[in-house]
Amino acid sequence: MRVHISRFVAAACSDAPTLCEVFRNTWNNAYQGIIPHFHLETMIRRRSPDWWNSTIRSGNGLLVLQVAGIVAGYATLGTARMRGEHEGEIYELYVTPTHQGVGFGEHLFEASRHHLDKRHLSGLIVWALTENAGATDFYWRRGGRPIGLGFECFGERRLQKIAYAWD
Ligand SMILES: CC(C)(COP(=O)(O)OP(=O)(O)OC[C@H]1O[C@@H](n2cnc3c(N)ncnc32)[C@H](O)[C@@H]1OP(=O)(O)O)[C@@H](O)C(=O)NCCC(=O)NCCS
Repeated sequence: MRVHISRFVAAACSDAPTLCEVFRNTWNNAYQGIIPHFHLETMIRRRSPDWWNSTIRSGNGLLVLQVAGIVAGYATLGTARMRGEHEGEIYELYVTPTHQGVGFGEHLFEASRHHLDKRHLSGLIVWALTENAGATDFYWRRGGRPIGLGFECFGERRLQKIAYAWD
């Protein structure tokens, strides 16, 4: 199986509709039963082809995981949103449900770290919802250690999130 990870999808604005679909699948799979349906649907709708197109054109950090020519995941990354000793952040890292558990997440994670290193951002932070055990376990096993807590509110629902860090 050929695995190809490209740094940006700048050359492929045509990927925008596929990224919408990947976003819908991965987010529904990860957050159904955690984020209230209405809010999850709203977030998914906001990730329109226009949103992906402008992200692609902006040249901001977007890694696309392609497996045998099919988009099977993505990561967004850049400067940490919270000022502190960890300068780099992976904002989102998602692998489609059909491709999970066989090493692609790790591959995407390492590629993301590599790209942050190339941008001379030292240290890494990743936020994950506490209830998203798949993600928190994944980051813990990659060596990330919790350094802070935060909260996201979805209407009445207040969800805790954990910041994992790597020096
Ligand atoms: C969390 C997530 C990114 C992990 O990606 P993944 O592709 O499932 O992860 P991997 O397959 O690389 O690693 C998972 C485990 O499978 C193991 N694995 C790797 N290759 C394997 C293989 N061929 N056969 C069996 N297991 C394998 C890995 O060693 C790893 O085990 P470990 O964590 O105990 O070391 C993915 O599950 C996902 O997208 N989840 C939903 C979205 C999400 O929560 N994203 C993060 C939000 S911040």
